[in-house]
Amino acid sequence: MSLIKFQSVSRYYGHDDAKTIALDDITLTIESGEFVAIMGKSGSGKSTLMNIIGMLDGLSDGTYTFDEVDVSGFKDSKRAYIRQNKIGFIFQSFNLLQRHTAIDNVALPMVYAKLNRFSRDKRAAGLLRKVGLEDRVYHFPNELSGGQMQRVAIARALANKPNIILADEPTGNLDTESGANIMTLLQGLNAAGNTIIMVTHDPDIAKLASRIINLRDGKLVDDSLTKPAASTKRADSKESVAEQEPEKPTKTNKQTNSKAKDKKKSKFKTSTKKKSKTKQKHGGKS
Ligand SMILES: Nc1ncnc2c1ncn2[C@@H]1O[C@H](COP(=O)(O)OP(=O)(O)O)[C@@H](O)[C@H]1O
Ligand SMILES: [Mg+2]
Repeated sequence: MSLIKFQSVSRYYGHDDAKTIALDDITLTIESGEFVAIMGKSGSGKSTLMNIIGMLDGLSDGTYTFDEVDVSGFKDSKRAYIRQNKIGFIFQSFNLLQRHTAIDNVALPMVYAKLNRFSRDKRAAGLLRKVGLEDRVYHFPNELSGGQMQRVAIARALANKPNIILADEPTGNLDTESGANIMTLLQGLNAAGNTIIMVTHDPDIAKLASRIINLRDGKLVDDSLTKPAASTKRADSKESVAEQEPEKPTKTNKQTNSKAKDKKKSKFKTSTKKKSKTKQKHGGKS
């Protein structure tokens, strides 16, 4: 009962001499409730993997099972339906509509889901409150900071109660503090039951996920847990989006995990403990 299952998935581009193997025989399972970071050098296949998971692209070979359904052979229209209803996207460049207010940006996916105006606005306002933007509801993107724009994008990603949130370098365009706030928000959403898959170049950001997958030349070369996922629902992937309030991304935010606290204090710099203590213990000179 896994949310995402890849069996020997490959993706090729071009033919013969011009053939590029963007993904090479990937076998992978992601359970509902996981928080996965995907890392790897530029060109290693991260975007291709995200695009296939998010059904923006199809596969050349192998089997992709999403929420217990084999979607490998699905045509664009069928993939689009799943995408709109079960997947929320967050991008490095936020991708907000500039001529629309925060609330309209968040409500837009609900238009396609055929919610009426009243329900859309009510839900969008609630989601903006959830990401700590209740005082920016009618602001346009150019009246918001980068961190605030990304929070609007997160609210929009949650619009249709997705089974999974895909984030491609969500902190890539943000300063350290705004990035930390976005990560606190994503961790809160994960703690509330949301499944998150995030691409990042930053090892300190990746460590905040519960699992790190490394790609090299289209191959999966490492897959390891950093800590147990905040909430892994192995049996029920249908309603993976809990409607609980996540922790708001404020500085006063209490972190339950003291490790995370340290990380936040040092702005993601891992503190290298001095060896002097050990030295003293063993009578070493200092
Ligand atoms: N549409 C495409 N056409 C041809 N080659 C592509 C296409 N998309 C990606 N590739 C190639 O596939 C490989 C993986 O790309 P990508 O998934 O974008 O890597 P990453 O996101 O890790 O930088 C690269 O060699 C890239 O050039
Ligand atoms: Mg990429």
